[in-house]
Amino acid sequence: MAFSQIETNFHANDGVDEIVEEQRPFALKHGVSFGDFIQFAGAVGVSNCAGGPRLQFLAGRSNISRPAPDLTVPEPSDATNKIFARMGDAGFSPNEVVDLLASHTVAAQDRVDPSIPGTPFDSTPSSFDAQFFVETLLRGQIFPGNGSNVGEVLSPLHGEFRLQSDFEIARDARTACEWQSFITNHNSMVTKFEAVMSKLAVLGHNPRTLVDCSEVIPVPSKAKTQVAKLPAGKTLRDIEAACRATPFPVISADPGPATTVAPVPPS
Ligand code: HEM
Repeated sequence: MAFSQIETNFHANDGVDEIVEEQRPFALKHGVSFGDFIQFAGAVGVSNCAGGPRLQFLAGRSNISRPAPDLTVPEPSDATNKIFARMGDAGFSPNEVVDLLASHTVAAQDRVDPSIPGTPFDSTPSSFDAQFFVETLLRGQIFPGNGSNVGEVLSPLHGEFRLQSDFEIARDARTACEWQSFITNHNSMVTKFEAVMSKLAVLGHNPRTLVDCSEVIPVPSKAKTQVAKLPAGKTLRDIEAACRATPFPVISADPGPATTVAPVPPS
């Protein structure tokens, strides 16, 4: 937000300019630092999703900063080794990267395939559920848009988008069991996401210099279910299970015709 002329031009940040331009005037108007505003808006944002986390919100970051160098943010076309190494530099283990990727349950792409903006990563992009962790393990069959793009791999459902990085981290021996564990344990997914986001939110800061203002973050509505489902039209035979230690859980499929996923409307 402070260096948008520089950082939003980095390839890995493609598309971030939109939200940056929408949020900056609010931060300036209310005299809130950019770092605090981004953390506050993110915590309020995910609290709106059914079954979502209630993220801690610490305030007091200063606006004195420097632009980040390029090539520090992972790309979806990066190999898992590169993603894990880069996230490791910032103090996150491979399993913590999985915990952070629960965010992709409420996410959509605009720029990897610009011909289909708003194409979500799971079939329930407004619910903070574990569908993302099931659907990334389904066998890929189609490209939802104009064919294969850099960072994209085959998706299992019409209207759903699959990032190469999500596909690979779901199947990597280091992370496959953490990935699979969330399918039957919504609470664990949310609790681990809250914990790892608390860590992310204070990177580069001494948390003791910040003030806990978490009480201003709304309490999200409860999750409908603890266990994810197979999308209608899929069976357990379509799952590419990758956790060697634990068999893939027996989950039921939604009834009805094969699932097609609608795009997320523009804000
Ligand atoms: C591990 C490496 C990661 C990679 C390679 C990655 C990659 C991507 C890509 C390519 C998109 C689509 C962007 C677009 O086309 O507009 C995306 C969307 C998104 N990602 Fe990630 N991501 C990663 C980690 C994370 C983390 C750690 C978070 C947050 C904790 C996150 C949250 C999101 C959200 C919320 C969106 C959706 C934005 C929207 O709907 O407008 N991602 N990610």
